[in-house]
Amino acid sequence: MTLRDYLVTGEGNRLTLHGVDLVDLCSKYGTPLFVFDEKSLVENFERFRGAFENVYSKIMVCYSIKTNNNLAICKILRERGAYAEVASELDLYVAKKAGFSGDHVIYDGPYKPRDALRKALEEEVLLINVESFSEMERFNQIAGKMGVKQAIGLRISPFRRRSFSAYTSLSGLIEAAYCNHGCRFGFPLEDAYSAFKRAVKLENLSVEGIITHPYRGAANTLLPIVREVHERLGIEVKYLDLGGGFYSGATRFVGSKELIWDLLRQKVGFKSKLNEGQSIVEIESVAKSVIDKVRQNLGGLPEPTIVVEPGRFIVASAGALLVRVDHVKSAGGFKWVMVDGGTNLVPHSFGYMEFHDVMSANKASGSQEELVNVVGPLLYSEDIVTLKARLPNVSEGDILLVFGCGAYTLSKSTQFLHPRPPAVLLDSKGEVRVIREKETFEDVLDKDKDV
Ligand SMILES: Cc1ncc(COP(=O)(O)O)c(C=O)c1O
Repeated sequence: MTLRDYLVTGEGNRLTLHGVDLVDLCSKYGTPLFVFDEKSLVENFERFRGAFENVYSKIMVCYSIKTNNNLAICKILRERGAYAEVASELDLYVAKKAGFSGDHVIYDGPYKPRDALRKALEEEVLLINVESFSEMERFNQIAGKMGVKQAIGLRISPFRRRSFSAYTSLSGLIEAAYCNHGCRFGFPLEDAYSAFKRAVKLENLSVEGIITHPYRGAANTLLPIVREVHERLGIEVKYLDLGGGFYSGATRFVGSKELIWDLLRQKVGFKSKLNEGQSIVEIESVAKSVIDKVRQNLGGLPEPTIVVEPGRFIVASAGALLVRVDHVKSAGGFKWVMVDGGTNLVPHSFGYMEFHDVMSANKASGSQEELVNVVGPLLYSEDIVTLKARLPNVSEGDILLVFGCGAYTLSKSTQFLHPRPPAVLLDSKGEVRVIREKETFEDVLDKDKDV
């Protein structure tokens, strides 16, 4: 169940969540307003963990802190038994504040300066996933100076440079020509064996894990390496980390190819499909197929602990954003609904537009629906919440509920043009708690110096 499933239309055709009138909530806290549902958050986490635990006994679910680093959210997940995946010193700080002990933390990420590595060692984190030869040497030196031996994993990049003919979009071709950016993470496949060979020789590190991200195809990438390093170097990989990337179904990612297809469909008389939810693969079958692949490829080796690092799956659908319609206008043959929160609060993922379902909170079951583009308050044209949303006769002052706003929002929102809004958490009894205060103009200037 997600936040959406707990919405009920109440008095005056207004949306309620666990009995709380969402329009009243906006009157009290103002808009924009992030709303989190504790029940959905916990259910998402427990469903995810259960899906894996039902098919494999040694599972570690590490919540990816960067996805939503709000202290209350992180604490709730810690209390439910989550481990934490951190990707910076800030993430580690948040994890500690939220009560995660070092032995419940895995440290990932392509950028780990010396101070971060020192801090990770001080906190005695369970595992640090190393991404390059230079990081490995640096880390060995630091651990030596501190007189400790640290468990590490090696991140492997399955990414190979694709030929130009593999690309079907202009942006893809440009990417192929300039950077193929995915390949910058971890050790390239062809270096994996030599990375393990070097790592076992480093006296202050003990090689215990292997990781790739995202999880799709991870077992096929990692297990041949696990077998090879076992056979040739005698290394037993204790932690098989499959990363994150588990689709939550809360938002829809739309690339330029899909936009073009959608346009063509409309030209020949079909309806736009942009606002039809993306098909959601059940996490239970994802877990089963991932574990089946691991087992098929283990080749008689002892079963490792499997680490998974979900972010979006846990929080995306547990959070929504309430926004107020500032005005509605027609321009260029489209109807535009301008609201007071957009991509400053719910940024798009890199390379994609991320479309969110939208519903009216004060005309919850309205008729006279119209197709509108809902856009935010920024000054650039990509500040889009969603396109071709079907909403009942939108007018100034309406409150809209934007779904799927729990992931990469609180942690990624900006102060560009507007201070950041508050966030509240509702529990299943309808108790409302503020989990982030509203920022003021003074807060925005707080660290500036007037010279
Ligand atoms: C190494 C690693 N683990 C986990 C995650 C979380 O991914 P998601 O939120 O898509 O599950 C990310 C996201 O970028 C990542 O880079």
